[in-house]
Amino acid sequence: MTRPRLVVGNWKMNPPTIAEAVALARAVVSAAPAGDVTMAVAPPAVALAMVAEAVRGTRVLVYTQDVHWEDKGAYTGGIAASMLAGVAVGTIVGHSEVRRDLGDDDIRVARKLARAIAAGLRVVLCVGESEAQHLAGETESVVARQVAADVAPLRANRERAAQLVIAYEPIWAIGTGRPATAAHATAAARMIRRTLETAGLPGDGTPVLYGGSVTAAGVREFSTADGIDGALVGGASLKAEEFGAIVRAFA
Ligand code: PGA
Repeated sequence: MTRPRLVVGNWKMNPPTIAEAVALARAVVSAAPAGDVTMAVAPPAVALAMVAEAVRGTRVLVYTQDVHWEDKGAYTGGIAASMLAGVAVGTIVGHSEVRRDLGDDDIRVARKLARAIAAGLRVVLCVGESEAQHLAGETESVVARQVAADVAPLRANRERAAQLVIAYEPIWAIGTGRPATAAHATAAARMIRRTLETAGLPGDGTPVLYGGSVTAAGVREFSTADGIDGALVGGASLKAEEFGAIVRAFA
């Protein structure tokens, strides 16, 4: 089965200014390889509009890092999916740092996913086990539980399933310089697809990305891994040349 390939750069709370975000976006455009791997950057919300302007008409797409679970109202600091029209084609949902820092549980992640999908956004849903769960051999059960809960709203909206991509991001591999192995990522991807099928969603047709300490030097482990269709890249996405090299590895 050939699935679309996608590499997303999650800039997190970087770079320090909007001007630097725009400069980085321009550099990413310059370093973008030719080919049909979809590539996107996810800048901080405050820089979205300027970054979107900087990459308009190029092959670099813009995602946001998170979205609110309600569509409007008294939610100070919140950003509704509808507000992203014209600046982002998609959103990350369920990133482990957001789950950790903002208290998102699977119920809230599912609601965010539903809002984003209904607004026509593409979604990169992040799942992954903690270090303790990894050491306890619970990776596959944790991932299955997260996926089943988080995609629940899509069951009633199956024709939108093509908007969904899942990023497998073991928490112990994020920002640690200690990526998982191809075999570990492949096993997780297989469980993700099996869980999607059980939910009546297209497992085989859904792209699965790997995320966690992906670098240009180490990307081959994942670009050649069975069942892995791209990457969600944090730290290395802040260097345009390196990000371009990671995209190229998936071409
Ligand atoms: P990292 O982050 O590449 O810096 O490990 C990945 C992520 O959190 O998406």
